[in-house]
Amino acid sequence: MKILVINGPNLNKLGHRDQQVYGTKSFEQLLEKIHSFADVNDFEVVCKQSNYEGQIIDWLQESEIFDGVVLNAGAFTHYSYAIRDAIADTQVPVIEVHISNVHNREGFRHQSVLAPVTNGQITGLGFQSYTLACLAIKNIVEGD
Ligand code: DQA
Repeated sequence: MKILVINGPNLNKLGHRDQQVYGTKSFEQLLEKIHSFADVNDFEVVCKQSNYEGQIIDWLQESEIFDGVVLNAGAFTHYSYAIRDAIADTQVPVIEVHISNVHNREGFRHQSVLAPVTNGQITGLGFQSYTLACLAIKNIVEGD
């Protein structure tokens, strides 16, 4: 099983940006956590990050070689109909994740234009949001 993890804009700044909200751990530490979780749970993972909407859309369009996608689209979550359309056209499960709890933050973060076309949303559990999403994809693929 092979999972694609896509991180969107500003997530490469983890550890520097708004530590009260996102914590002090770096983006590299997030990647380490995801990779060691994949090793322990016996699946392959490919992690990509981009600050560009079009790049994220390209990766979603090419995602059929994976068994599922874990997507933190950052602020694009709240307004990108182009990413939404790309998810709607994706043939594999897509789980939306957020490090912070978007529902207890500013009003504009309460809405996800992506959520209606994803398999589910995991929000507010820190880096664990990603590992839980990987587990969810594994369960979906294995028919649990
Ligand atoms: C985020 C939440 C978004 O509202 C924000 O724009 C981000 C990060 C999160 O992981 O909590 O960039 O997706």
